[in-house]
Amino acid sequence: MALTFFKRSPKAILQRSRDDYPTKMRLKYAPYYHAVESQEGTSIKLDGRDLIMLSSNDYLGLSFHPDVITAGQKAMAKWGTSPTGARPSNGSRLYHTDLEQKLATFLGREACHIHAAGYLSCLTSVAAFAQKGDMILADKNIHSCLLDGARLSHATVERFSHNNPSDLREIAETVSSRQAKMLVIEGVYSMEGHIARMPELIGIGEEFGYFSVVDDAHGFGVLGNQGRGTVDHFGLNDQVDIICGSMSKSLASTGGFIAASKDIIEYLRTNSRQTIFSAAVPPSQAAVASAALDVMQNEPEHHERLWKNTRRYTAILKSLGLDIWGSETPAVPIVLGSREAVYRFWQALMEKGVFSVMSIAPAVPPGKDLIRTAISALHTDDQIDQIGDAMAYAVKKL
Ligand SMILES: Cc1ncc(COP(=O)(O)O)c(C=O)c1O
Repeated sequence: MALTFFKRSPKAILQRSRDDYPTKMRLKYAPYYHAVESQEGTSIKLDGRDLIMLSSNDYLGLSFHPDVITAGQKAMAKWGTSPTGARPSNGSRLYHTDLEQKLATFLGREACHIHAAGYLSCLTSVAAFAQKGDMILADKNIHSCLLDGARLSHATVERFSHNNPSDLREIAETVSSRQAKMLVIEGVYSMEGHIARMPELIGIGEEFGYFSVVDDAHGFGVLGNQGRGTVDHFGLNDQVDIICGSMSKSLASTGGFIAASKDIIEYLRTNSRQTIFSAAVPPSQAAVASAALDVMQNEPEHHERLWKNTRRYTAILKSLGLDIWGSETPAVPIVLGSREAVYRFWQALMEKGVFSVMSIAPAVPPGKDLIRTAISALHTDDQIDQIGDAMAYAVKKL
């Protein structure tokens, strides 16, 4: 009875969630969170329609490789579904240490640590090593996981213009020589498809004493000898301190890795909260990544096909006068400059049976609203023809 005198206070966070404008717009136009009904390679079914997937990160197309699938199935049958715990406690298994050794050897590093998400690996590559009072210099266009890592570290963060060595130098010259310093870049930028100007950037980092972190989520499998990535592509293995990346792209699995010297990896295992307090990679996903790594080394045809497809696809886009932001890799943006143009273009591609992804500001810099597309070794010649026709149709709809 007495309780009726007390009114519940309104919950501001609940109200904010309900009123959120971007969420309302997302639900209205429904461009994201499409649940694909079935998939075989780059062919998918969505709302009962057959479409070509043009935005997955399965660069080498290994997610449907029979050996890779079998490896995942066998591992689950042998080890169960989950390690059910974190690595320092009950979650460490031989399949983790085997895969870490294999990745370290492949990348020419002493050691490696894997996590259940690429986001975790890349975030903690920054967060676990930089501290309050340190200086982080980061490319303006780095992935949100690196930015989150920088924020969590409590270090001071300065951003230099995207892929711009002279801007990096200008800022580096103003930083106190007494501070501990970190340089954070990507090998291949996921939205833009740009390859980092690594020799100049890492050269400046070395000159000024920067510990370097390279997120090579989109360079691994794509660049370098047998897909060893951007650092290998430039021959800079001796100068880069940490290579981190994702197993959800060329490795056709999920999870992430950090490859570095032994002392760096042991420091990580002692100090990284994301490593200590999060469950380990499940057996099937470790086995899938391990098998994909074998395929990368034994079957060069996937890498060759990826680049053949990429060259053909980018030539089509250029012949249509589309702006691909100077992409040099299989991650190819189509910059349209406004959210309206992006939406029209995306819809036209869908109409013609091509599935792509919209990226609009603030996910991309203002005026760079774009359609993100990515080529896979699994795209057939016929599919690329069909994609070309769809692009020509979408250009007319602009
Ligand atoms: C550059 C970059 N780093 C890290 C990640 C995170 O990887 P994952 O999706 O495997 O967690 C991504 C994924 O989009 C990425 O593009």
